[in-house]
Amino acid sequence: MQEDGKYILFKGLLVPKLSHSSESLQYAADFQVRDDDVFGVTYPKSGTTWMQEILPLVLNGGDLTPVQTIPNWDRVPWLEETRAALILDSQPPPRAIVSHLPYWLMPQSFYQSKAKVIYVTRNPKDIAVSSFHFHKMASFLDDPGTFDEFLENFLSGQVLFGKWTDHVKSWRNPDIEDRILYVTYEEMVQDLKGVLSRFAQFLGQELTPEALEKVANHCQFSNMKTNAMSNYSLVPQEIMDSSKTPFLRKGIVGDWRNHFSPEQEARFSAIVREEMKGSSFQFPWDEE
Ligand code: A3P
Repeated sequence: MQEDGKYILFKGLLVPKLSHSSESLQYAADFQVRDDDVFGVTYPKSGTTWMQEILPLVLNGGDLTPVQTIPNWDRVPWLEETRAALILDSQPPPRAIVSHLPYWLMPQSFYQSKAKVIYVTRNPKDIAVSSFHFHKMASFLDDPGTFDEFLENFLSGQVLFGKWTDHVKSWRNPDIEDRILYVTYEEMVQDLKGVLSRFAQFLGQELTPEALEKVANHCQFSNMKTNAMSNYSLVPQEIMDSSKTPFLRKGIVGDWRNHFSPEQEARFSAIVREEMKGSSFQFPWDEE
């Protein structure tokens, strides 16, 4: 493990020092996964905060208390972050946990467990845009430079948690196909209620039609944006400056069109597609 400015280099991946430490990364490696744990796994900027809102509600039948009273980072902590050890050991089951770890860095106990995983993928072009803006508002991350410079770093994996393609490929692993549900951010935007029903079914939970309606309504972008427990307004401005851009920024599909030049788009798509060759991952964004 090396330290490099604002980051720790962990097994070749950059992670921010503000929220990670050698102890927290060791805690994740040694974590005792339980069969009833539920993981929301994402590459950064794919909908993690959204999963931190959704998972407790699906697991508790739609009771809004936790999402209205507990900040997202303590409600559904990241396995690899420093808050995890303070929360997870005393959390009653079923525990909802998020993680940005690639499959190969999950705790040993995870592989033998029956813990379920919901893996959210998002169009990497929109991820790059979202991440670019996030770097501008988060003082604990390096300045992204120009969009062109940032795209090069994104494509070469010199960004948080490494290359998008490596992350997505790692989680297409036949060893866990019976306990992983794949969903795209785009499906969640298009049909949140349908996705919530799939989550409930996958997790063996009942959501009455009224609860489903309530959860879908609460988890809409416009409502989450006003939830102080989820919009990062509790974080001091020196750390996240929402006057530059809010954390819950646009919440839309296809904002890449407002940022990519045709040349950038062609290069980005060619590289990503080449790297995804041979993977079982089917691009849901083919129509573009
Ligand atoms: P944008 O920057 O494109 O708006 P993460 O939580 O993984 O860091 O991802 C953040 C991205 O998810 C941001 O994207 C954020 O706005 C979006 N997001 C969070 N909650 C959302 C919701 N309820 N609906 C749509 N997008 C949401």
